[in-house]
Amino acid sequence: MFSALKPLPTDPILGLMAAYKQDTNPNKIDLGVGVYKDEQGNTPVLKAVKTAEAFRLENEKSKSYIGLAGNLDFCHKMESLLLGEHQALLANRVRTAQAPGGTGALRVAAEFIKRCNKDATIWVTNPTWANHISLFEAAGLSVKEYPYYDYENKDLMFDEMIETLSKVPKGDVVLVHACCHNPSGMDLNETQWNTLAQLAKDVGFTPLVDIAYQGFGSSLEEDARGLRILADAVEELIICSSCSKNFGLYRERIGACSLIAKDSATADISSSVMLSVVRAIYSMPPAHGADIVNTILGSTELTQQWHQELDEMRNRINGLRSLIKQSLAAKGIAQDFSFIERQHGMFSFLGINKEQIARLQQEYGIYIVGSSRVNVAGISDTNIDYFANAVADVCK
Ligand code: LMR
Repeated sequence: MFSALKPLPTDPILGLMAAYKQDTNPNKIDLGVGVYKDEQGNTPVLKAVKTAEAFRLENEKSKSYIGLAGNLDFCHKMESLLLGEHQALLANRVRTAQAPGGTGALRVAAEFIKRCNKDATIWVTNPTWANHISLFEAAGLSVKEYPYYDYENKDLMFDEMIETLSKVPKGDVVLVHACCHNPSGMDLNETQWNTLAQLAKDVGFTPLVDIAYQGFGSSLEEDARGLRILADAVEELIICSSCSKNFGLYRERIGACSLIAKDSATADISSSVMLSVVRAIYSMPPAHGADIVNTILGSTELTQQWHQELDEMRNRINGLRSLIKQSLAAKGIAQDFSFIERQHGMFSFLGINKEQIARLQQEYGIYIVGSSRVNVAGISDTNIDYFANAVADVCK
């Protein structure tokens, strides 16, 4: 059976991690996979996480199963983090299942959508996170793209996006990135969120909000604004969230899939379907990451410390955006890179071609995704000059 298989190319993002590890260039820079890095190039465990883990080690009483929805206290705290004091929560219209990372949450959402409407198409931004399309297709959904990023002008194609989405059939699902769009860094402003929300209501599509970077763009509240505007406008919404980036819990695989239904009874029915999906895929989620997040969000002191650490990560990223723009401009490169400062989160497209990307990797040991997406958090005061010189060289 196995001998009929053909080898597949490595994952466009994760494959870079392996290639980077093997590179012996002492000046190499990893701007590939989306993990936060500090000035020393490390992805440290947050102090709030360390304290919560020590607490868990002392206080965990059992390794018995935690149930299909996972840790319910975690689920409720995630709902508040995402929605604040939204009326959907007050009306008991929200149900959440803890999931193995944001990707696990997306897979649960995909299977749930299929149970609602097996013919639903899921619409994703063009471009989107490389794994979105494979994930939804693997779940048996058909995927279509809607215009989003204007590579030429380094801006949103908002009018084209609205034009396309106004023709989406009722019953389809439209995936939106709540903040820090992956891979472009280009986000909707408040007016644009309001237009989109009104459109979702008028056209009757269901929004699926992927929120993997809450707190990495402007603030925890600001980054959830679009999600909350959508939740104000529509009766049904799916939210896939992740604690990988904002809690730095990447390898613990902790996220959540939340459903907002039109009323509490429908929410219960929807939740029963979501939990049967969970049971059929992985039975139930792992405990560790949820306990950590629950302990942090359940303690005023640890929450304060987490906010501080999150602010530090975001401020560093935003500072690096300015540094990259200035350093590239100082090299006299003809291309304008000022858009990098206007975008949000860890990613931007450099806007260079395949050959230039390959030269960065081969000649300089600088690893960026083949779409020219860079993770700005991989830059530091130590490597910025090397990076700017390399970009100037390949852009000559
Ligand atoms: C990324 O986009 O680099 C991250 O979300 C990591 C991943 O799984 O692709």
